[in-house]
Amino acid sequence: MSPTLFLFSVLLGSTMAAAQAPPLRPGFYMDTCPQAELIVRDVIKNAMARETRSVASVMRLQFHDCLVNGCDGSLLLDDSPNMVGEKEALSNIDSLRSYQVIDEIKEALESSCPGVVSCADIVIMAARDAVVLSGGPNWQVRLGRLDSLTASQEASNDIMPSPRANATALIQLFTRFNLSTKDLVALSGSHSIGKARCFSIVFRLYNQSGSGRADPAIEPGFREKLDKLCPLGGDESVTGDLDATPERFDNQYFKDLTNGRGFLNSDQTLFTYPTTKDYVKTFSQSQKEFFKAFVEGMIKMGDLQSSQPGEIRRNCRVVNSQPVEVFLDA
Ligand code: HEM
Repeated sequence: MSPTLFLFSVLLGSTMAAAQAPPLRPGFYMDTCPQAELIVRDVIKNAMARETRSVASVMRLQFHDCLVNGCDGSLLLDDSPNMVGEKEALSNIDSLRSYQVIDEIKEALESSCPGVVSCADIVIMAARDAVVLSGGPNWQVRLGRLDSLTASQEASNDIMPSPRANATALIQLFTRFNLSTKDLVALSGSHSIGKARCFSIVFRLYNQSGSGRADPAIEPGFREKLDKLCPLGGDESVTGDLDATPERFDNQYFKDLTNGRGFLNSDQTLFTYPTTKDYVKTFSQSQKEFFKAFVEGMIKMGDLQSSQPGEIRRNCRVVNSQPVEVFLDA
């Protein structure tokens, strides 16, 4: 009888069983990897020296990871034969950046304390450091997350907000995650650093509400600038600054909104809806109030946890126990 091919799955190289995450707390790695937070800060510093914007891109990863099934590093998984990951979800494709900075951090941590620090926690520490190194507030991060065993592009598509969103839709979305209207406005202040593509605003510029008309909330001088940067039919991968001081984490973003100079529709809308407008005004007048609310929001967002079992991934892009298909001769 000729040899037959059998196809089945084996679990490769998994020494650590999936586990439930312990409660989050500051200083979680104090005993197991005391230098963890210093290592993360160092890599972020170097990344920033190479390209200032990279830290804004790193900070954004926390938002896109935490809203989709909790802060579990699911965002960082590459597609595999068994799973379509989140990297190519609508809000992420051609947009999220700096995954390689997370890889660098993981590599540095694995050489000091192998198998100890989760990728999910790396995202949280890196986001905090991005803010601090850009001139923003400092805070103690709560750690102890596990990395997911899977990811969901579908969930990301369903959850992550569009730059066209209005304040009512954004409030509703944040409420789903136990984040208040104040959290929404403060966390939107993360757009104090970084850039966005023309792709994200052409609808706003040329077809607001499908009417073919421009968004009336844009200040005329700023509108002229945006028209030049992002002409109708132009290259939509061109980028513009999210506020007037895109390398400094400060309350300029809110000052810009009060002057009709918000970049995204989802930014400017916050100055049109009564409750969000009040917070925009407060934060535009007091950087201290903004920083305080921002830190509270980041901690609350970081507390969104996955209900699924997890592991400490060795490589943030793949699960440790990647099922693989093997052909064997019978
Ligand atoms: C409130 C709803 C939000 C919407 C609709 C939104 C949407 C966007 C969009 C469309 C971009 C530009 C993408 C591109 O053109 O490629 C962007 C950039 C960015 N977002 Fe948000 N965002 C929101 C909230 C947040 C939150 C909560 C954070 C972090 C805590 C965040 C952090 C950032 C950062 C730092 C950038 C710049 C990234 C870079 O320069 O690479 N955003 N956001």
